Formats: sequence, C-alpha cells, structure tokens
Amino acid sequence: MLDEEARVARQPVTETEARHANRGWWDGDADGYQAEHGSFLGEVDFVWCPEGLREADAHLLGEVAGRRVLEVGCGAAAAARWLATQNADVVAVDLSAGMLRHAVAAAQTSGVRVPLLQADGLALPFGDGVFDVACTAFGAIPFVADSGALMREVARVLRPGGRWVFSVTHPMRWIFLDDPGERGLLAVHSYFDRSPYVERDAAGVPTYVEQHRTLGDRIRELVAAGFVLRDLVEPEWPAGHEQLWGQWSPLRGRLFPGTAIFSCVKAS
Ligand SMILES: C[S@@+](CC[C@H](N)C(=O)[O-])C[C@H]1O[C@@H](n2cnc3c(N)ncnc32)[C@H](O)[C@@H]1O
Repeated sequence: MLDEEARVARQPVTETEARHANRGWWDGDADGYQAEHGSFLGEVDFVWCPEGLREADAHLLGEVAGRRVLEVGCGAAAAARWLATQNADVVAVDLSAGMLRHAVAAAQTSGVRVPLLQADGLALPFGDGVFDVACTAFGAIPFVADSGALMREVARVLRPGGRWVFSVTHPMRWIFLDDPGERGLLAVHSYFDRSPYVERDAAGVPTYVEQHRTLGDRIRELVAAGFVLRDLVEPEWPAGHEQLWGQWSPLRGRLFPGTAIFSCVKAS
C-alpha cells in the first residue's frame, strides 16, 4: 500500500497505464469537472482557457460558417455547440462516455445539437482530409503518451491548408507546484524533465497521468506531422478576472503565462 505522499510523483508510466488512467479518470471525474467548471465554460460558448479568452473575440479558427469542423476532446461540447450557432458543420469527439453524457444533457437543455462520437483522438473514425478545421481546448493532448501520434492523426483528417488550433497548459507551468497561491510561485521542477505527473491509488495503480512537452518538443512534433505553426498565443490574465481554475489564479496569471494556444495549418 502506498502512503499519501508516495501516490503523487513525476515518473515514467507505460503507455497502457497512461491509457487506462486517462479513460478511468475522465469517466470518474466527469460530474466533478462539470460541477466545478461548467458555469465558467457555459452551455453554448467557446472558452479557450482559464484566462477566459473566447473564440468569439479571438477568431483563432477564422471563418467557420460552412466549414467542416472537428472538436477533439470536447468534454461537454460547449465549444462545438457554439460553433454550430456560427453555422459550422461541426462534429465533436471525446474518449470519455462520462463527459459525453454531459454533452448529451447540455444539447437537450440548450436545444443546440451537434453530432457526438466516443472516440480516441489517436484513432479518429474519419477518412483522410475530410475537415477544414480541427480544434480543442485542453482536450486529449496532455493525456496521451504519444502526442506526436495525435498530431499526425489530426493532420490525416484535415485537408491541406486546414487549420489546427489547440490550447494546453503553458509548458513553463511545469516547473511549479500545482498551487494557485504563493507556493505556486517557486520553481521546484526541471522544465526539461519529461516524466509525466502521475497520481496513483493506494495499490499503486496510476489513476491520473498528465504529460509534459517543452515548447521545442511541441513545435517539433507539429512540424513532423506536416503542420506549419502560424502563431503561439499566450493569453494574459485580464484585469478584474478573479475566478480560480485549479492552479490558474490572478496572482500567478499576472506574472507568467498559464495557457499556450498553438495555431497551425496543414502544409499544402
Ligand atoms: C480538460 S478536459 C477538456 C474538455 C473540454 N475541451 C473543455 O474545454 O472543458 C479534457 C478532455 O479530453 C478528453 N480526452 C482525454 N484523452 C482523450 C483522447 N485520447 N481522445 C479524445 N479525448 C480525450 C477527456 O475525456 C476530457 O473530456
């Protein structure tokens, strides 16, 4: 039996352990995640990050009306529903049935319905080149052991010239504790340590695994998948925004970035 302290560490896990932890975590945490973040995310809204940047203001996806859009790791799919209200032809996928149950419920309450599929971002059930745009806000990428493979899979389903825009935790956050307060201002981990953050149960089985890539790693995997990086958006913490999201807080947001949004196109 592991004691409390030994259950959280940065250490290697196998791909199978990561996959099992990922699916189990999001099914088990779906109700908690929505209870905690659902009102911030909205029912029909595209919020890119805890800093509150909205697609309605940022226009990172360009014109979406009439475009075939894929949302990967959609969770409750508020973003996909917002895209549908902008006349996008949108499909939303997520690995977790628990998260998709919230998407189904929100479709009923909002009256905005989009096609929902349970699928792994590593094996998208679509043909080659069928989407104009793909996107995700914090979905899938941090939770797969081989994010390079996920980039290649997204590239496969996009047409040449198609856009891929995704937000993730800013890699520099990796050097700090996951703490929104003063403790989270002190650098304690190496930015260069790619070992995942792992939580285990008392029996030592990984229950939550989150992966880290440096900025350079991320750019290399995008380029290797055939993408051209157009922009890297680092949203600033807006004045007057006081809402915490886990380790994201006004205190830390004023000092360093919490989110990185990569905006890419598939090379023609
Ligand atoms: C942090 S939540 C983000 C959800 C949503 N995009 C949002 O903004 O609230 C991460 C989501 O990624 C999904 N996910 C994790 N691994 C995945 C994978 N391999 N393929 C597809 N979805 C995955 C989880 O089930 C979860 O819904």
